[in-house]
Amino acid sequence: MRKTSVYIETIGCQMNVADTERAASRLRIAGYELVGDSESADVVLFNTCSVRARAEQKVFNRIGEVRKSSRHGKQIVGVTGCVAQLEGAAVFDHAPGVSLVVGTRATDRLPKIIERIRRGERRILDLGERDEGETWDVSPAERHSPHVAFVPIIEGCNKFCTYCIVPYSRGRERSRVASEVVAEVQRLLRSGFKEVHLIGQNVNSYRPETETGLEGFNGATPFSRLLRAVAATGVPRIKFTTSFPRDFHQDIIAAIDECGNLCNWVHLPAQSGSDRVLRLMRRGHKASDYMRRVEAIKNARRKISLTTDIIIGFPGETEKDFQATVQLVKQCQYDGIYIFKYSERKGTPAAALLGKLSDSEKTARFQALHGVQQGIQSEIYASYIGKSVSVLVEAVSTRSIEDVTGHTTCNKVVNFKGVADLIGQIVHVNVTTAKQHSLYGALV
Ligand code: SAH
Ligand code: SF4
Ligand code: F3S
Repeated sequence: MRKTSVYIETIGCQMNVADTERAASRLRIAGYELVGDSESADVVLFNTCSVRARAEQKVFNRIGEVRKSSRHGKQIVGVTGCVAQLEGAAVFDHAPGVSLVVGTRATDRLPKIIERIRRGERRILDLGERDEGETWDVSPAERHSPHVAFVPIIEGCNKFCTYCIVPYSRGRERSRVASEVVAEVQRLLRSGFKEVHLIGQNVNSYRPETETGLEGFNGATPFSRLLRAVAATGVPRIKFTTSFPRDFHQDIIAAIDECGNLCNWVHLPAQSGSDRVLRLMRRGHKASDYMRRVEAIKNARRKISLTTDIIIGFPGETEKDFQATVQLVKQCQYDGIYIFKYSERKGTPAAALLGKLSDSEKTARFQALHGVQQGIQSEIYASYIGKSVSVLVEAVSTRSIEDVTGHTTCNKVVNFKGVADLIGQIVHVNVTTAKQHSLYGALV
């Protein structure tokens, strides 16, 4: 009998990518076939994001597109992830073609849910918690890359920043047992993976219920000890994201200093440079606290590349507040920043604040900050010219079939002339040209 085919489209952050890999693993074991396009699939799942209004709208547009396709009526359409968790049954009203809505912790039940729909149930909603004893194993074949693996170490968020929907869509923080994380990294190493990204909304808030697997490693926080334990596996490269400023302690930098395979890149979202706005955001840090952490990062033995997220146009943000953000961005000399226009999320405390900015005001500030960062970034990227960088070759370049592309340990994209045989190898490249978001060079 022909297997039922499933296509999963992922919108959103790395956590969603990891959830998709986990869902695909469960579905494959249950006898489903995973396919790469929505046209041919019997089941189309949208793994969704609701961090900003635009991400949320995207899924409903995509559902509309799938329903217009030739196979309309013959396909099962489902919504998983953050929009599913937040909207629940309202998704059925919003998009009547959808027959299953499955929340962020119900992934492992997908095979059974799809089976029930195939047997004739019309609509299934599952926003439940994980079952007892579920583990996070993903088969190598379902990973988004054969060379770089995402390893979730903590899920959920307890911080409740006033603008953010994530604590509602992902629930409370729950850390995985360290020995389980280390065992997964060891398996990845044996399967030939060269780089692991430890991921979570706030990786450095990592706090497992038991400390099994962390014995014998130095460091004040469980996160820094986990970093050392993962480094001890010998996997060539370890990156981690996202770090929460308030929990970013010196012992993380000490671990990077001492373990060569902990990569020299930190993503530390500042959100704003104005203490008044930071307080309204309830970030739990002042600009000066943030700057102290940045100084410690800049004083590390190896040059650590630094990136951030900034929200512009938070309710009530004045020109003075905005200028404080511009000042902070100039001081930090970021290797890269993601600038987001504040997007109102229903049910969050910030949605009730006065002083909303118009879209044109937000756009003007976005462009001004973007311009400042472009100048800084051009100089930083240009400073790599003439230097040799270590690159994990990940794919043939989309721009030219004669080029391959990969990332440095500091997470910069590097393109260079090279054959596909190099894919999966770590090589040295002499940088010859710097662009705004990438470097170009020649194989050493
Ligand atoms: N846990 C991470 C960030 C997760 S969300 C942290 O605290 O740093 C990723 C980014 O989306 C955030 O850093 C923030 O810059 C942005 N973001 C979250 N909610 C937003 C909103 N309502 N409007 C605009 N940007 C938002
Ligand atoms: Fe959202 Fe704040 Fe949690 Fe980050 S720390 S996910 S911004 S609530
Ligand atoms: Fe989006 Fe959910 Fe991630 S809201 S950013 S997919 S945690």
